[in-house]
Amino acid sequence: MFPYDSLRDYAQALEARGKLKRIKEMDQDAYEMTAFAYRLRDRMHEQAPGFLVERTKVGGRWYDSPVIGNIFNGFGMVAQAFGSDEFDGGQSGMHAAAVQRILSFMDKDFHWRTIEPVTIEKHAAPCKEVVLLGEQADLGLFPWIRNNPSDAGQYISAGSVIMCDPELGRNVGTYRMQVKGPRKAGICFTNQSHGFKFMERAMERGQERVAASVAIGIDPISWMMSSTRLADMGEDEFALAGGFRGKPVELVKSETNDILVPAQAEFILEGDIVAEMEEEGPYGEMMGYIGKKTFAFTMDIKAITHRRSPWVYNLWPGIGGAYLTLPWEVAHFARLKKIMPSLQKLYTPPDVPSVVIACIDKRLPGEGIEMGMLILGYRMVGFSKKVVIVVDKDVDPTDLSQVMHAMGTRWQPHPASLIVPQTIHIPIDPSCREMFLSSKIVIDATRQQPGEGGPDIYPEDNRTAVMEKAPGAFALVDKKWDTYCVD
Ligand SMILES: Cc1cc2nc3c(=O)[nH]c(=O)nc-3n(C[C@H](O)[C@H](O)[C@H](O)COP(=O)(O)O)c2cc1C
Repeated sequence: MFPYDSLRDYAQALEARGKLKRIKEMDQDAYEMTAFAYRLRDRMHEQAPGFLVERTKVGGRWYDSPVIGNIFNGFGMVAQAFGSDEFDGGQSGMHAAAVQRILSFMDKDFHWRTIEPVTIEKHAAPCKEVVLLGEQADLGLFPWIRNNPSDAGQYISAGSVIMCDPELGRNVGTYRMQVKGPRKAGICFTNQSHGFKFMERAMERGQERVAASVAIGIDPISWMMSSTRLADMGEDEFALAGGFRGKPVELVKSETNDILVPAQAEFILEGDIVAEMEEEGPYGEMMGYIGKKTFAFTMDIKAITHRRSPWVYNLWPGIGGAYLTLPWEVAHFARLKKIMPSLQKLYTPPDVPSVVIACIDKRLPGEGIEMGMLILGYRMVGFSKKVVIVVDKDVDPTDLSQVMHAMGTRWQPHPASLIVPQTIHIPIDPSCREMFLSSKIVIDATRQQPGEGGPDIYPEDNRTAVMEKAPGAFALVDKKWDTYCVD
């Protein structure tokens, strides 16, 4: 029942809805899980369930620790994580349900509700069921997944790195970690991330090591807060998670430092981030391409605590990323709509993070391009999007064939486009020659009015003509649907 206190509670709720499948074993040395994650997407799209693999082969060894993945697939799962129980609306309905549910936690000044976390005793914390200190702490005991043969190695792909700074407060952020040894992992902070800013601040103070604890497999809302920037610097992700949950997140003190960590986590890694960079990657990134080698800080691990029979939570970047980051997009949507009330919907195709579709109630000439400019100038999900497609409110942005139809029939590439030659961009877009720089485009696929070079009269479209002139037709077919026996 909502709110889910742990990954396991959320998994149980998914399973009850047929949205989590258990699989006996998979050979990840043959990249079986990776191919399975892709095939689920190919064959079932948003309907694909999450999966929990009970035994996994990694690095020539069979592990009995379960691996769970694909548990934020489809807006229905996001809606469920936030406590909605509407699951029947198809892609469009599920997207709307998740967006509405998330928006319901925001006040008119764009502030999210918060509830401060509480601290519990160690003996009550599941993440302390097993405590491994010093030499006993060994990352090799668990099946961290190498997603792709082109990856540099095994990765902890779903860790929430928790850091505390005397001036900046607490930060919780999702940053990938490359397994580099039994007690050593890379931590890849982009220079935009708060984690990086915390490191910079500590280094300015002359620190060479910065304490951190990493939680893996936490409750779904804390996980989404860690993975999206709803919390500005100095704001606490766990207090935000509490607000969404309507109930505080339970934290417990780490074994080897003072950092408080989610008590319900599957794993906690504790240690120091060393203020020196080493080679990291390559890694199959969220843009769907293998990224370049980079440089990253490393973490010396001093302790691992975990539940009994802990679950490794793994992510396959590039598959359905926009589900997990929906709260971030919703925060942008609310602010953009305040500036331009004609905005009706905002939709990032789940596998294409650099494209966004904005749906507007257009009244005046030029509004489509204006909306696109506003969105281009807005750093959404870290960096502004590369392609902004603006459509009329009768187009469902979650249905890409409708979006393509609007582009094919309402868009004139000239003059209804705006190309920006170069602005700052996400560094992992493989189409860019210069890192951090990209050209960008607004495609105004709204019906062009005469004042903006469109036809004097826009013809009615076929489907609307049926709906308006034969008003009972669709209702008749819907009523008789089962009798046609086509499902
Ligand atoms: C699956 C996933 C992996 C991510 N990996 C990284 C990463 O390796 N490095 C990074 O800087 N941001 C990464 N991000 C984005 C950050 O998690 C996101 O920007 C978050 O807001 C970071 O927290 P912060 O705002 O406190 O820096 C990732 C996000 C997701 C959802």
